[in-house]
Amino acid sequence: MEKPVQLKDGVYWVGAIDWNVREFHGYTTSRGSTYNAYLVKGEKTALVDTVKAEFFPEMLARIKSIMDPAEIDYLIVNHVEMDHSGAIPMFVEQAPNAQLIATDNGIKALERHYRQELPIRKVRTGDEIALGAKTLQFLETYMLHWPDSMFTYLKEDCILMPNDGFGQHYASYHRFDDEDSLETIMDEAAKYFGNILMPLAPLIPPLLKKVKNMGIPIEMIAPSHGIIWRSHPDKIIQAYFDWSTGVAEEHVLIIYDTMWQSTETMAKVISQGISQAGVENKLIHVRKNHRSDIMKEILSAKILAIGSPTINEGIFPTVAELLIYLKGLRPLKKKGVAFGSYGWGGEAIPAINDAMKGMGIEVIDPGLSVMYVPGDEDLQNCFQMGEKIAASL
Ligand code: FEO
Repeated sequence: MEKPVQLKDGVYWVGAIDWNVREFHGYTTSRGSTYNAYLVKGEKTALVDTVKAEFFPEMLARIKSIMDPAEIDYLIVNHVEMDHSGAIPMFVEQAPNAQLIATDNGIKALERHYRQELPIRKVRTGDEIALGAKTLQFLETYMLHWPDSMFTYLKEDCILMPNDGFGQHYASYHRFDDEDSLETIMDEAAKYFGNILMPLAPLIPPLLKKVKNMGIPIEMIAPSHGIIWRSHPDKIIQAYFDWSTGVAEEHVLIIYDTMWQSTETMAKVISQGISQAGVENKLIHVRKNHRSDIMKEILSAKILAIGSPTINEGIFPTVAELLIYLKGLRPLKKKGVAFGSYGWGGEAIPAINDAMKGMGIEVIDPGLSVMYVPGDEDLQNCFQMGEKIAASL
């Protein structure tokens, strides 16, 4: 039998664990994921979010172990992306008395996704639904991360249900942060932020301020993916504030690809120059790391040294693809330099510089090119570039 997990009296996790998902619209999920749905029982009952369609039987079994789904009064739709709404058409068949609750944009998105008449009620920031001894309050979070998004707050239990916010793609037997490795949870939370929420970072500090001004105590954060923050809600809130304001560690990422190891040799000597100055740095070969993992690393670095050979009068394709992905995610407060080898043209370096400037990265050096294979003088220049990078921190 699928077991629900109790968060507080009358509040249950009834979601599903996706142990084997390894790809999530272009994002690698090496640790799987979960789709969290929560059942809130007062005199009336609400289900907060559903799950990906294929996991509906798992969610339904958990609900049935608590109550008859036909007696559910409300379905709160915090977000219409299909990993949370996919089960709605099946759910409404099992819960014909449930009224759906969504933002104005949520209602429009549901119409466009499911093309069926659904019993929906619109809510706005501050609206409440009384379930008897429990009260749900809503906060619209436009563009965090879709136009339809909202948070649900369970007042009496001080539980924030922010859907994708504060989530992690992490499948675990455990449900709570004090039962699992905090290092792993934070690692996945950073990857989630770096790949999903980073372009929306400017919206986050005002939202956190708004939540603070609402005077709502938050004892627990129950997101729609991964582990529930029961013991460390302040830690993830602070991390979101830091990530969304560009707070980063004093370290450098050297991100490169290479054709015949000349650019790789440059990368390694630049790394030696940085290390000589006592600054932490990391070498990342673009073809050996998935872009979603690289984004997690970029989130916490202050300087990016981007290396590419010149090919076909431009940037090596894997590096160019990473730069396009990075541009869409709008990195905050980064500095950058370019380097790489070439045969006769050397167009990659100015192209990388232009790409970095175009996404707001401060270019701290015109860049370093080496013709064909680096010699002693070239290697000395690479070492010095490493020292210059370290000094610019
Ligand atoms: Fe987890 Fe935006 O969906």
